[in-house]
Amino acid sequence: MANLNRRQVLAALAAGAAAVPALGLQAAQRSSMPAPPAGQNAAALAKNEDFWREVAGYYDRTEGIVNLEHGYWGKMAKPVQQAYVEATRMVNAQNSYYGRKGYAADAKRAVNVIAEALGAHEDEIVVTRNASEAIHNLIRQYQGLNKGDAVLYADVDYPQFKTTMHWLEESRGVQARVISLPSRATQKDILDLYRQAFDANPNLKLMLLTHVSNQHGLVIPVAAITAEARQRGIDVICDSAQSWGLLDYKIGDLGVDWAGFNLHKWIGSPVGLGVLYMRRGTLEKVAPYPGETDPDNSKAATRIHTGTANFASILAIPAALEFHQAIGAANKEARLRHLRRLWTNEAQDMPHIEVLGGADEASWTGMGAFRLAGKSSPSDAKDLQQRLENEFGIFTVVRKGLASGHCVRITPQVFSSSQEIASLTSAMRQLRA
Ligand SMILES: Cc1ncc(COP(=O)(O)O)c(C=O)c1O
Repeated sequence: MANLNRRQVLAALAAGAAAVPALGLQAAQRSSMPAPPAGQNAAALAKNEDFWREVAGYYDRTEGIVNLEHGYWGKMAKPVQQAYVEATRMVNAQNSYYGRKGYAADAKRAVNVIAEALGAHEDEIVVTRNASEAIHNLIRQYQGLNKGDAVLYADVDYPQFKTTMHWLEESRGVQARVISLPSRATQKDILDLYRQAFDANPNLKLMLLTHVSNQHGLVIPVAAITAEARQRGIDVICDSAQSWGLLDYKIGDLGVDWAGFNLHKWIGSPVGLGVLYMRRGTLEKVAPYPGETDPDNSKAATRIHTGTANFASILAIPAALEFHQAIGAANKEARLRHLRRLWTNEAQDMPHIEVLGGADEASWTGMGAFRLAGKSSPSDAKDLQQRLENEFGIFTVVRKGLASGHCVRITPQVFSSSQEIASLTSAMRQLRA
């Protein structure tokens, strides 16, 4: 559509909004997509360097540094970037004429592909600017709190959301309770600690639950904790910002009513896209965005009011999901876990290194973290990050939220190579000095 002349655009629009082509997908189909070799399961494919080299070829390379800080946002693959650039051009050329007449159908299509990929109904999905918009609105617009109630969050939660949970103390007269998880934990350890927190705080009404911690990639057993919380009348807001695409799952596997996601991390969309999920029949306790009305509590879309958004990024959603699915969600999870194992297996035998995060496989993701043993202060972590960058050319990030202390996060992507991980383990060995 980017190159259509005015007469062709008018003809397309005259045929009705539904006739406007789904731009993101069309553009993506013009480029090839990765094709995993037949007959290899995810575990075997995870070690197939030829295939992952081919996948890396779909991305522009970062020059000058080994970048192991991909927890911030995900790079677009070239077909997605192509769809995004073409959509940007088309939206800019057609301007309000497209915005007012053609965009609604394309936006609906983007919602459909998200819903299908997540295993949700379309009316349960709202596109947001990021996970923060989705989760902040859930916390702020939650109606189920009375003076004297308590809310719960954990040290592993996203720092800005911890602050929002605390803000409920002043704004709603509730008490905010915090649970601290150990620096290494199994699924059972985590569930037991949440159970203890529930027992110790019978006045809990709401909790924030993070599927994958942005600190060290720890996986929280969301379904088991949510089932327990439900029995006790505790509502759960699930932060899945870091998990969708890093892990392979459907929304039903989490068992939650409400969640916030990012598309711009592990799904690989353009930056500035997230998702609010609200399960049908659960909207009553979360008020519409101020000024919006929803007398039947049936419209999740009324819980967000973004205003004018980046049309082109939304048009590129089908391309991003198509690329993600071409690699295969299970293959991606397995490859990222494999890359993490390559460094943690070695690091665990280095007495001067403390590896943080999962203590059993189900509690691990491709994202991990470490610190020098006994060195958990802010300046220790900053020095470590600086040494990795300046002495070894490896880019990482300091994480500051864990009760056990500061650390450096290691986050490879699907385009990271096993040689890049080898350069990390080599650096870790030398950090002893
Ligand atoms: C666990 C977690 N929650 C929420 C967010 C917020 O995501 P965004 O900045 O895209 O809104 C992040 C971002 O890093 C995160 O890692």
